[in-house]
Amino acid sequence: MSGNADIAVIGLGVMGANLARNFRSRGLTVAVHNRRTEVTEHLLAEHGAEGFVACTTPEELVAALKTPRVVVLMVTAGQAVDAVIASIGEHLEPGDILVDGGNSHYADTERRSVAAAAHDLLYVGMGVSGGEEGALLGPSMMPGGDTRAWPVIRPLMEKAAAVGQGTCVAWCGRGGAGHYTKMVHNGIEYGDMQLLGEVFTLMRDGLGMDAPAQAEVFEGWNRGRLSSFLVEITAGIVASRDPQGAGPLVDAILDEAGQKGTGRWTSVQAVEAGVPLPTITAAVDARAISSRRAQRTAARAVLPRGVARIPELAVEDLEQALYAAKLASYAQGFDLLRTASEERGYGIDLGEVARIWTAGCIIRAAFLGRVREAFQRDPELPSLVLDPSFAEELATALPAWRRVVAAAVIAGIPVPALSASLAWIDQVRGERGAAQLIQAQRDWFGAHTYRRLDAPDAPIHTDWASLERLHR
Ligand code: 6PG
Repeated sequence: MSGNADIAVIGLGVMGANLARNFRSRGLTVAVHNRRTEVTEHLLAEHGAEGFVACTTPEELVAALKTPRVVVLMVTAGQAVDAVIASIGEHLEPGDILVDGGNSHYADTERRSVAAAAHDLLYVGMGVSGGEEGALLGPSMMPGGDTRAWPVIRPLMEKAAAVGQGTCVAWCGRGGAGHYTKMVHNGIEYGDMQLLGEVFTLMRDGLGMDAPAQAEVFEGWNRGRLSSFLVEITAGIVASRDPQGAGPLVDAILDEAGQKGTGRWTSVQAVEAGVPLPTITAAVDARAISSRRAQRTAARAVLPRGVARIPELAVEDLEQALYAAKLASYAQGFDLLRTASEERGYGIDLGEVARIWTAGCIIRAAFLGRVREAFQRDPELPSLVLDPSFAEELATALPAWRRVVAAAVIAGIPVPALSASLAWIDQVRGERGAAQLIQAQRDWFGAHTYRRLDAPDAPIHTDWASLERLHR
């Protein structure tokens, strides 16, 4: 049986309800369902006038849809997704499309794609970014999976997506490509947030700037090359007064960062793929350190505190350091995406990914338009930092960036992401480094061999203990 609904949304929590409302606001006929009927009733009580086709059972939902059916799952990542697929799957027909719009792990998406394909269902894992407001007004959407689904879902998703440099939805590739792309988006989001957190502490603790002065700086940055959603909200946050006190609300917040896991997944994937991701990993670690409160309290009682003012630090230097570290972080994130795409055969177009991140998503920024241009100029670009225009900015920023990191280290103000990015750059562009010694150590204790500069193709082993020693 088939009906006249264009699309269905299952899972009517805030994200699901807002996405359903978004589809509806674009003139689509939207069938909705939630396992707990009171959740559907809540949507209808609040927004029923917008005209949804409310369904009480999965069967009813399937019957309400045009064929091929497009069912978007907006349920909490994990077992709930499998449960919903099981309940709806048996009512669907070959050629119908299941779209998981949650923050699922890409490996789960790949497993589900294979299972769905066995029933001739077309499975799509779609990253959706932009939070509650994005879901309602226009998110950035990152679909990937069974390629046959794309021509069917494309006109539907294009109606709902944000508009930046074009409509912010693009086919990311096969299998778990959509959720992989969203995972990297979230890793980059962690990096951006940590970097902003670090410059905030430098302004507050290092420079002793008050909240209005900090806000002014962030607002200024938001008018320049750092213009982005996260800088904009940071300006708003630091300027917000505590409704229960006199000072800034941000200073009344417990210094313990939560995380649902997507940033950590990004680091884990990078380690497994052998792709360096120091900025994002520093951000993941910083959240972990922040949340180990008992250990921090114990450490404060025993270890000396080193926070000192660094009045000589220039705000312009902070801008340079933040921008350059951000660039390094994006270079690492895109490197991971490209490596995964090659290894997994996803076929991700990095320029397109940058384009669909120009609006709607949490990391939306003017900067992403330039990232897109860099990949358009050279789709094989080995690293964003090698794009001539970015390389030039990086070279200009380096002295200021070093001043910021050095001053922070001396003052005892932790800047793990700013410094990890800088160390990454120094390693990437360094001619000779610690690896020479590491190879010698490996060869000494394990006969793992090393290669000489003058004969790089011939691994050799040396009996190090028997070598003549150099003396002064
Ligand atoms: C987005 C966000 C969104 C959410 C994350 C972050 O792109 O809209 O990334 O997915 O905010 O879940 O969560 P954590 O900071 O809790 O990991």
